[in-house]
Amino acid sequence: MRLDRILANSGLGSRKDVKKLIKNARISLEGEILTDPGQNIDEDKREWLYLDNEPIRVQEWLYYLMHKPAGFLTAMNQTDETGQSTLGDLVPDFFFHKKIVPVGRLDKDTTGLLLFTNDGTLHHRLLSPKYKIPRTYEVSIEILDHCFNEDDVKAVALGMDIGLGERSGPGELIILGPDRSRLTLYEGKYHEVKRIMEALGKEVTSLHRLSYGPIILGDEKPGQIRLLEPSEIEAMLQACGLDPA
Ligand code: URA
Repeated sequence: MRLDRILANSGLGSRKDVKKLIKNARISLEGEILTDPGQNIDEDKREWLYLDNEPIRVQEWLYYLMHKPAGFLTAMNQTDETGQSTLGDLVPDFFFHKKIVPVGRLDKDTTGLLLFTNDGTLHHRLLSPKYKIPRTYEVSIEILDHCFNEDDVKAVALGMDIGLGERSGPGELIILGPDRSRLTLYEGKYHEVKRIMEALGKEVTSLHRLSYGPIILGDEKPGQIRLLEPSEIEAMLQACGLDPA
């Protein structure tokens, strides 16, 4: 990983701040002053990074995906005071120590891909509408008004009034059947899919997230959690404008 990203991730300030530290010859590795913010630092060397005469406590960034099962609240406290099951009941204990948290929320009844990380910069960018990270859902509906049609596709593409004084951003709707579709959004407003469907005269009967940015749910079983592959992490950082090297 690049020196400036390691330092910024370790809480020494923004990328701009840490570049200044490097420029001022305050960062060293095994006694040698480092001058290039873009220098790649091998994983096994990171513990020998120093700021002035103090070792830098390098953060460990971890990235996971979960196939979220239905019936669990996206919350990290374990079974909540109302007795409802939460994702905190499903994750291993070290998620709490390492402060690994879900990226955004899925509703209690929603299933599918949920990312987890303790990388604050990435977490923020994955959620920020500024980075337009696509989220794709498979949506089944009860038809209250009409089945999926081309007018729905156009309305989703333009963005629509979804109530509470908000509009959805432009999205893509692919019709899979009269009551089934695939919807891609580039933002994540509160209950956005359900509010879009309601505005289209439909009620969601099942909602499943297939992908988030470049990360695609595979054959993981509901409740299964796995570490992302290095290639997946790289693609995700790139999608968020972060330099993986
Ligand atoms: N939109 C919703 O309405 N619910 C979800 O769980 C995710 C997106």
